[in-house]
Amino acid sequence: MGTNHVKKVCIVGASGKLGQYMVRHALERGYEVVGVCRERSVPKLASFEGRMTVIPGPTNDPDVIRQAVTGCDGVLTVLVPWGVQQYASSTAQAVLDHAPPGARLVFSCGWHITRDGKDTYSRTFRAAVRVAALLGKLVRAVEIDDQVEACRRVFASDTRWTVVRGSTLEEGESQGLPVWSRYVGDPVLASNLTRRVDFALFMVEALTDDSLVQEAPAIVGRRTPSALAHAGGPDERA
Ligand SMILES: NC(=O)c1ccc[n+]([C@@H]2O[C@H](COP(=O)([O-])OP(=O)(O)OC[C@H]3O[C@@H](n4cnc5c(N)ncnc54)[C@H](OP(=O)(O)O)[C@@H]3O)[C@@H](O)[C@H]2O)c1
Repeated sequence: MGTNHVKKVCIVGASGKLGQYMVRHALERGYEVVGVCRERSVPKLASFEGRMTVIPGPTNDPDVIRQAVTGCDGVLTVLVPWGVQQYASSTAQAVLDHAPPGARLVFSCGWHITRDGKDTYSRTFRAAVRVAALLGKLVRAVEIDDQVEACRRVFASDTRWTVVRGSTLEEGESQGLPVWSRYVGDPVLASNLTRRVDFALFMVEALTDDSLVQEAPAIVGRRTPSALAHAGGPDERA
């Protein structure tokens, strides 16, 4: 644990499901919140009116991001592989380039992202990612390779980053802070299910957890069978 000087945070992709949960958790902690989302999605944040600042615009626009992250101690970024236009990598790049020096930068992605190739995936998981990537390319809606590129750039940066790798998600009430492992394939993660509200909780908690700086935790719900059976320290692989 550590950094407890967080006062102001920026949430990039605030209007999505994960983003809105993060806004809620951040406000509950008393943080000043600035959200960035596409202009047409601003109404999705209506329930937070008066409690946060919304900067409308594409999240991959460096000018929008520069304005939004000014004075922030932390930046929470939802990396989504939408559109075939390097949306995720240019969003990550804008955050890396413009966040104030020393700010905590927390990014979201899925288990398919690997930092050092030491994750082990089931055949079913690999097949599902391949099918999603292919279908996404066919309909020109999803660009999984670009989320990989976004994370490659984050991993290579010398900022105070954390890349939170989410399992399959479900809605439902919070079960508390998810448990995590450095590597997919660790038995603690086998249940492959996290409540979205708790994914958001992990992202916001990471802002003040220095043990997660330059880590890529893969998370799972703390009340899932695998977490209950195997909770322990993070998996260390040689
Ligand atoms: N879904 C899963 O099962 C799953 C599993 C593991 C990890 N994750 C990770 O969790 C995070 C959130 O994913 P989510 O599925 O829960 O989605 P989400 O929170 O609803 O977020 C979707 C985001 O994508 C934006 N978006 C949608 N269409 C877009 C477009 N055409 N161009 C630009 N932006 C667009 C949305 O913005 P608007 O509000 O403007 O539409 C919103 O910010 C991601 O990092 C994802 O990799 C998801």
